[in-house]
Amino acid sequence: MNIVFMGSESVPFIKTGGLADVLGSLPKALAQKGNDVSVFIPLYGKIKPEYREKMEYVGAFFVDLDWRRQHVGVFKYIIDGVDYFFIDNEYYFNRNGIYGEIDDGERFVYFSRACVQALKFLNLKADIVHANDWHTGLVPIYIKEYAKGDSFYSGIKSVYTIHNIKYQGVFDLNGMRPLLGFTDEYIHEDGIKFYEAINMMKAGIVYSDLVTTVSKTYSNEITYPYFGEGLDGIIRKHSNKLVGIVNGIDYEKYNPETDKMIDYNYSVNNLENKKKNKRVIQKICGLPERDDVAVIGLVSRLVELKGIDLLEYVLGEVLQMDVQFIVLGTGDYKYEEMLKFYERIFRSKMAARIYFDEEHSHKVYSGADLYLMPSIAEPCGISQLIAMRYGTLPIVRQTGGLVDTVEAYNKFTGEGTGFGFSNINAHELLFTIKDAVSLYYNNKEEFNKLIKNAMTTDFSWNYSCDEYIDYYNRLINNKF
Ligand code: GLC
Repeated sequence: MNIVFMGSESVPFIKTGGLADVLGSLPKALAQKGNDVSVFIPLYGKIKPEYREKMEYVGAFFVDLDWRRQHVGVFKYIIDGVDYFFIDNEYYFNRNGIYGEIDDGERFVYFSRACVQALKFLNLKADIVHANDWHTGLVPIYIKEYAKGDSFYSGIKSVYTIHNIKYQGVFDLNGMRPLLGFTDEYIHEDGIKFYEAINMMKAGIVYSDLVTTVSKTYSNEITYPYFGEGLDGIIRKHSNKLVGIVNGIDYEKYNPETDKMIDYNYSVNNLENKKKNKRVIQKICGLPERDDVAVIGLVSRLVELKGIDLLEYVLGEVLQMDVQFIVLGTGDYKYEEMLKFYERIFRSKMAARIYFDEEHSHKVYSGADLYLMPSIAEPCGISQLIAMRYGTLPIVRQTGGLVDTVEAYNKFTGEGTGFGFSNINAHELLFTIKDAVSLYYNNKEEFNKLIKNAMTTDFSWNYSCDEYIDYYNRLINNKF
């Protein structure tokens, strides 16, 4: 089967969120199962020279956008058996940032059209085109449109994955209309119109052949107004083609037995080395180097959706306990300042590392005992999977993918792979942290059992990859 992914980010090239992790690992898993897989992403200026130098120039063509003809350069890089194609246009993608530009709408109309036209330019005979998040929401429309006049595109099935319904790509209708290049056939309430604007995620939902989201619980949640972010109605309308498939992680990259970014490799049968990693991260963070203290880690974008507000209410109390708390990440200024404030007050207990560094994140995953993820909404979540793989027990709010992947500790049966609380309530968070810390100090045997459970649960792509293949096959055989 020939599968082409289209999206805005992919590791190792460029990353702002979990979308990049998925586009950097699911295609590889599909390729390992014998499929021909390609991925299209923009050639952002921020992509490092070490990758650019190894890219092969394939050729160039043009895309018409309103009265302009825009250049499309195509570069290729093969990694893990997957062909990555980079869409090059300096005007659109050689900027300081990745998103948040005044012309984001135009940039991703351009990208979506360039990707779909590139299929033909490269003579890439895709069975499935798999678009992701708002940036490529228009792709299913272009496939339909181009198929009207060109048999090359007929028969291609489109899949659209919602990684996070909060970011929809909503742009001014009148400004965008000339750029879109299609008729008003699609611009109405049941199409891409969203009040007086256009909504690119809505386009993906309405016009793709299959809509997926990244966990089963989230696929149900987004049918309700609280999680649907204004699109719950359209989700309900198209629920017959909506499925939830939970994300996995790359088991080769995230493997405590072989990971070169951590100082001491370990496995479920040799947890002694995990303690040495605790010392490493304590040293990096300037915290007292102690084996016997509960270390809590948090690696995240620092935004409201990730539950940082909840944390703010109780952080002072959390730090009254004998714990060390390490935060790694950047985000909203107010949260960055809040965390730095607590660091100043609790020098020996708290480290607010307001940056992101891949290697340090691995050191936190391997060196901490507990991992905090109090998300308000979480489509899937990747870092709790990584934490469990490294034997670091997650403390999560039970929402979305966190419900599907973390089995909350049950003190009566002793089962679990982490700790959970259900309501958006700061004190529930506090009490759950207290329960977890108390288990760490008072019942090592039970705590270690949870570590074993977490480390031996399979969070690789294996099963989910088969689910995707199954759905792709159903689409190709018109059996969906
Ligand atoms: C988004 C979601 C996250 C999910 C990721 C990959 O970043 O917020 O929950 O794991 O996409 O699908």
